[in-house]
Amino acid sequence: MTIRVKIHLILAGLLLALFFQNCAKSSNDHVTIDSLSVPRACGKKGYEKLHFVYLEPKCASCHGDNGFVAPFFATSNLLNSYYEAKSVTKEKWHIGTTQNGFCGDACNIETTSAIYQQLMDWVAHPDRDDCN
Ligand code: HEC
Repeated sequence: MTIRVKIHLILAGLLLALFFQNCAKSSNDHVTIDSLSVPRACGKKGYEKLHFVYLEPKCASCHGDNGFVAPFFATSNLLNSYYEAKSVTKEKWHIGTTQNGFCGDACNIETTSAIYQQLMDWVAHPDRDDCN
């Protein structure tokens, strides 16, 4: 095989991969949290889960006990953190977790990840306590 043929094969493969990725994405747009396989998250308990697995480890340096910037949703006081978190809008959670310029690759997650889906579930149901 010549180099040219090889490059064409690789490009064709990439195109196919892109095509399938787009398919997956567009069908995902209509998937609600209820039909996803990730565990639900709502209310105080849901917040606790998000706090321990993601928000505290990734955001506490700035939004925690020794942090310097509000909202203080990642402190060791879970109840206070929960109330602070409730004051953050969905749009700001989205930006803070997917396009965060302060912590970058160290904290940004994919919208397809379980944590992101759970955070959005929680943002939509912060006062419900019957889902986890
Ligand atoms: C290195 C410090 C740092 C880390 C780590 C950090 N942030 Fe922030 N964050 C800031 C600063 C500074 C601001 C205030 C400036 C601004 O609003 O853009 C802020 C503001 C915010 C806001 C409020 C935006 C508004 O306008 O009200 C949210 C929500 C937020 N961060 C989410 C997060 C999340 C979620 C994480 C962890 C995944 C995180 N941040 C990690 C520095 C940080």
